[in-house]
Amino acid sequence: MHEAATALAQSDCPNCARHFARVCEILDRHQRNPAKLIPILQQVQEEYRYLPTEVLTFVANSLGLSPAQVHGVATFYSHFTMTPKGKYTIRLCDGTACHVRGSTDILDALRRRLGLSPGRNTTADMLFTVETVSCLGACGLAPVMVINESVHGQVTPEKALTLLEEISAEERGS
Ligand code: FES
Repeated sequence: MHEAATALAQSDCPNCARHFARVCEILDRHQRNPAKLIPILQQVQEEYRYLPTEVLTFVANSLGLSPAQVHGVATFYSHFTMTPKGKYTIRLCDGTACHVRGSTDILDALRRRLGLSPGRNTTADMLFTVETVSCLGACGLAPVMVINESVHGQVTPEKALTLLEEISAEERGS
């Protein structure tokens, strides 16, 4: 087994063996075809919620590409992330319409509740990541917040905290 594959398969992380098996499945599903690099990276990111460097190296070796080529693609597209994200990614719009309608107050409320700061946007339990984004194209609903794929409009700090509570309660129950 290649060095990168051995490191992945033997890691202490209890989920690593499962993740590794899934990465192999994804590669096989695409016949280890280097032309399928982008869909492969998309599916690998769904598995890990980010693209770990050692996984990128393993993908590169499996596709017969250099790690630098794969790293270059992963860093070129904003859709890909190289840093771990929480199970729930909260994207708060800070475009003009949302900003004038109070997105900063919402961001402050979320950060206070989750113990986050401008330099730290993911909670220690890896449940939430809070990011700001520019216009989401739904200005009529400003301020807008997206939690994973779910869009919430006319958000207030109170509404944002209620949504957080609902997710946390669901997670405690699961
Ligand atoms: S400015 Fe927020 S959706 Fe357009």
